[in-house]
Amino acid sequence: MVIKTVMVVGAGQMGSGIAQVCATAGYKVFLNDLKDELVAKGCNIIEKNLNRQVEKGRMTEIEKANAIENLIRSTDLNDAENVDIVIEAATENMDVKKAIFAKLDGIAPEHTILASNTSSLPITEIAAATSRPEKVIGMHFMNPVPVMKLVEIIRGLATGDEVYETIERMAKVLGKVPVEVNDFPGFVSNRVLMPMINEAIYTLYEGVATKEAIDEVLKLGMNHPMGPLTLADFIGLDTCLYIMETLHEGFGDDKYRPCPLLRKYVKAGWLGKKTGRGFYTYD
Ligand code: CAA
Repeated sequence: MVIKTVMVVGAGQMGSGIAQVCATAGYKVFLNDLKDELVAKGCNIIEKNLNRQVEKGRMTEIEKANAIENLIRSTDLNDAENVDIVIEAATENMDVKKAIFAKLDGIAPEHTILASNTSSLPITEIAAATSRPEKVIGMHFMNPVPVMKLVEIIRGLATGDEVYETIERMAKVLGKVPVEVNDFPGFVSNRVLMPMINEAIYTLYEGVATKEAIDEVLKLGMNHPMGPLTLADFIGLDTCLYIMETLHEGFGDDKYRPCPLLRKYVKAGWLGKKTGRGFYTYD
């Protein structure tokens, strides 16, 4: 299977990053979202990132122009009739994802792979919303996508070997390191990361230390590039809560119970960097 054209559904933080790395690697990319403004916002982030690459001497003006030319703005899912793969990076919600996959299944050509960037939802269940479960796969990028090397590739129960191999090759073309995992809640990345973040929130909730102290311990003591509370703000507290709930529901174990303080912040609309306030405040 040869991939030439890509559609990325969702032009937010993750979707725009995925579109950027695909366009830079030479793929034609439809960047799709519900409204023009959302697509424009994603394209602006990409352009800003590419400008920085040029300023740093890592990319020429011509390479930047080529990458931008590879981007096609889309607000119509019917554009999926022109692509070899769709990478879905929409809202982290099973009903939303199932609806998108069912619609794409009716539009995209038979050979088209339908991939999801979901950070924790079961690929097998998303695949069941389509008539091509063997062509459905998880392609989980890390944030910020242009910087982070990992792509966690998740095999659903029915994912075909050829589809897996195609995605593995594509991840390498994007300059990423693919790692294969099976379809269990949170996969590997968030099954390990989120309970750590949740535990950091519990230590704050129980008054063990200040937020700055908790972050400092992990940064200086364990060499993490960001403390867990800063990282939670960076990921989005709503996303962290959603993933904890997925783990809690999926395994039924109390060790995955989301911290009440995390719930409270999300209810307050303090979702982290994207809303200007989470554990810390942002301009
Ligand atoms: N987009 C593109 N590039 C970015 C960026 C962004 N949002 N943020 C930072 N960068 C680039 C910077 O331009 C800089 O590039 P140069 O080396 O070319 O200058 C480089 O990253 C380093 O940035 P900074 O010097 O500003 O800051 P830093 O050294 O603190 O690095 C960081 C920033 C890479 C984000 C680093 O703090 C880090 O690695 N943090 C942890 C990130 C992490 O754990 N990500 C996974 C989150 S979990 C996830 O994504 C999975 C999930 O499902 C929830």
